[in-house]
Amino acid sequence: MKKIVVLTGAGISAESGLKTFRDSDGLWEGYNVEDVATPEAWQRNPKLVQEFYNQRRKTVLEASPNVAHKALAELEQKYDVTIITQNIDDLHERGGSGKVLHLHGIITRSQSDKNANLTYPIKGWELKMGELCELGSQLRAHVVWFGEAVPMIEEAAKECMMADIFILVGSSLAVYPAAGLVNYVPRQVPKYIVDPKIPYMPSDKFIKIEEKATVGVPLLVSELLND
Ligand code: APR
Repeated sequence: MKKIVVLTGAGISAESGLKTFRDSDGLWEGYNVEDVATPEAWQRNPKLVQEFYNQRRKTVLEASPNVAHKALAELEQKYDVTIITQNIDDLHERGGSGKVLHLHGIITRSQSDKNANLTYPIKGWELKMGELCELGSQLRAHVVWFGEAVPMIEEAAKECMMADIFILVGSSLAVYPAAGLVNYVPRQVPKYIVDPKIPYMPSDKFIKIEEKATVGVPLLVSELLND
């Protein structure tokens, strides 16, 4: 079975109603990253950070996977598929994908603020101040903040090295180390990108599908399934 590795970003969930970060009206237009998505912000004002992610979680729980998430799951009929996502939503899982690697964590889980390896499922949308991990310290959202390590990056890089086909969907490739993953995909491997506004690409050749995810991904998937 050929191996397909898919790297996704916020663009794949945009048509499920979840804002991207860097488009106009993106999430980072309304917020200062330094106020809500750094360890320093958590030190300074944990309540504000907790509330920010509670609101994000609420939106994610209200959203549904779209046809792009679902089409990627259908690829598993014929291929060994690994999804590497920068997204903290769970729409790939709910869309039916079996192997999803969350580079930046997942908002439906909490983590200890003393030990990032201690993570727990969250019931509902709200994580309250005063809810503690087994070590007795405050629980926070299980997401990777700016300035924090990306523990899954090595595993993700290994997946990219083993790809027979590589697909990138809906990422501006503005954030490292995630953006560097494309460099681990062997040179001869066919690479596709689905994005209505193709970002600056590293030197390697990509086959460009300049469409929204809900249009471009099902098209590409049916092509790959008929191959
Ligand atoms: N379908 C496909 N792609 C889309 C769509 C759509 N309907 N709408 C927008 N896009 C594309 C944009 O053209 C852009 O290239 O999605 C990309 C979104 O880029 P960003 O907002 O920068 O999101 P992403 O690349 O996922 O951000 C990476 O930055 O702050 C963070 O941690 C956060 O994981 C995130 C990381």
